[in-house]
Amino acid sequence: MDCHLTNRVAVVTGGGRGIGEGIALRLAAEGAHVVVADQNPETARAVAGKIEKAGRKALACAVDVTSWDQVQGMVAQAIHDLGRIDILVNNAGISPKVDGRKILVHEIDPAQWDQVLAVNLKGAFHCAKAIIPHMIAQKSGRIVSIASISAKTGWAGPAGAHYAASKAGLAALTRFMAHELAPYNILCNALAPGRIETPMRALSNAEENEAMRVRIPLGRFGTVEEVANLVLFLVSDLASYITGEIVDINGGWLID
Ligand SMILES: NC(=O)c1ccc[n+]([C@@H]2O[C@H](COP(=O)([O-])OP(=O)(O)OC[C@H]3O[C@@H](n4cnc5c(N)ncnc54)[C@H](O)[C@@H]3O)[C@@H](O)[C@H]2O)c1
Repeated sequence: MDCHLTNRVAVVTGGGRGIGEGIALRLAAEGAHVVVADQNPETARAVAGKIEKAGRKALACAVDVTSWDQVQGMVAQAIHDLGRIDILVNNAGISPKVDGRKILVHEIDPAQWDQVLAVNLKGAFHCAKAIIPHMIAQKSGRIVSIASISAKTGWAGPAGAHYAASKAGLAALTRFMAHELAPYNILCNALAPGRIETPMRALSNAEENEAMRVRIPLGRFGTVEEVANLVLFLVSDLASYITGEIVDINGGWLID
């Protein structure tokens, strides 16, 4: 057994940049065809172009995961163009801040609360809901969702409570799906990354970054490639007996 994904079809939401781009490129490097689903059509096209250059099929889909109609359209197009979907990576997410500073609970605008929950949690539900029937028909599938260390702790750097609540919800959705979908050979797991170097994180201020870095036993933030390697493992045949797990990847920041 190995981690090759030859001719498997993966949908990666938020695949246009950051962790999602890294995951899309890593899965393609192992042979997968990839649907790069991102609300930003330009970055989605750019990543799809890199995948095609590497000799795999790629579909750039401009989709806002908060829209059930758009998600249904994206999945219909993926099935039409690529024939099947074997892997879903729920990666699209947002983490609002004010001037790079954490937003305290009493400062969260209710509309912003709804928006964070809509992207980070409901968006993942939309994608799972649209893709699960195809996986059930195939009697196989892998769903990996990118949660966060904040789902497990009362602290996580600049992430606010709305972000943490959305990621804890994503962890609960993952456990529930794992239980429900095991009879169909669909394995569902989530990642709980600590701090990873990406454009999202570049929004935090330098002082806050340093205060966080010194609390991490490995003494550095994680890389996109390290997260992508873990996703690759979880969607590969090597991880055939793992489901319902929320897997830490945090440099020892949280050891539980
Ligand atoms: N970077 C970190 O330190 C870190 C840590 C823990 C978890 N995460 C999670 O990892 C995921 C990726 O984070 P990142 O740092 O790469 O972020 P990022 O901001 O660099 O990239 C997010 C991508 O998602 C897309 N996106 C945002 N809203 C969308 C929507 N409604 N529909 C479709 N696409 C949408 C964006 O266009 C962007 O391409 C997020 O879910 C984030 O919460 C990140």
